[in-house]
Amino acid sequence: MNKANQTLMNAYVEKIEEQLLKFTAEKPELQGVVLEAMEYSLTAGGKRLRPVLVLEFYRMCGGDKLDEILDIACSVELIHTYSLIHDDLPCMDNDDYRRGKPSCHKAFPENIALLAGDALNSLAFEVIANAAIDGRISAEKAVMLISVLGKSIGTEGMIGGQVIDLQTENEMIDIDTLNTLQGCKTGALIEAACVMGVILAGKFDMIPAAADYACAMGRAFQIVDDILDVTGTFEELGKPIGSDEQQHKNTYVTLLGMERSEQTARQFTVQALGSLKYFDNSQFLSELTSDMLTRRS
Ligand code: IPE
Ligand code: IPE
Ligand code: MG
Ligand code: MG
Ligand code: MG
Repeated sequence: MNKANQTLMNAYVEKIEEQLLKFTAEKPELQGVVLEAMEYSLTAGGKRLRPVLVLEFYRMCGGDKLDEILDIACSVELIHTYSLIHDDLPCMDNDDYRRGKPSCHKAFPENIALLAGDALNSLAFEVIANAAIDGRISAEKAVMLISVLGKSIGTEGMIGGQVIDLQTENEMIDIDTLNTLQGCKTGALIEAACVMGVILAGKFDMIPAAADYACAMGRAFQIVDDILDVTGTFEELGKPIGSDEQQHKNTYVTLLGMERSEQTARQFTVQALGSLKYFDNSQFLSELTSDMLTRRS
């Protein structure tokens, strides 16, 4: 990233992490442990890609009150973190490390990790509704955001993708099914993040262009995730390497091989970059999108 873009990225991440800490600041005596578990996973690091996408689409669509919508941008990170806590559980991918630290269910009892995920999920929607109650966004926008986010993580989105992922372990699927699996488990939330930024800025006619970008970018993102599960190191990724092979998952690498996976990720990245031509001031997002192709974490 060039210096100006890196400065903007750092500023975004700093603001996002400040906001994330606020969500779990108060911990009542009896149920404090679940807030500790939520905070543990929320503050463990991570790229913060999804809230950055909300903020960046908001900015590209003319939004200039970032501080007023920061908690809404972070609602997507609450959901993402919930999905990672549950994804790592023994009944799911059974992974012991996440973001360079023991997974939530390794640092806390498994039942508390499960509930921490649930609590992050409901908190995300509460945060959006409260922004309307406070008068920071209109009730109409809040309803749209809740609808978009809810749909993206439901049976037609993330949960649906996770179900296909789990149900097809140990069996070979075709590329169309893999695309559906990945589009749902990873692409849908990325699309929601981009569309939510557009909704927050009120530039509703840009929703299809944001969705097109997200669809291609989300594809590339999950293919790179599959590649890194083979070529990455624990130090770089902060999560176990070879987890997909161990769990007999269908991935781009198992279906198409490394070379064709890399080629497909490049093609989707080019497609995503093409969709950005409809947006003004897209230099930052263009560079971030290209960087996601060569990321090592
Ligand atoms: C990992 O997401 C899970 C997928 C959907 C591929 P990220 O690679 O964005 O994880 P963090 O947030 O940076 O830890
Ligand atoms: C996770 O996909 C997708 C969601 C969390 C919804 P993966 O299982 O490939 O993610 P990692 O590799 O564990 O981060
Ligand atoms: Mg998984
Ligand atoms: Mg996993
Ligand atoms: Mg993976």
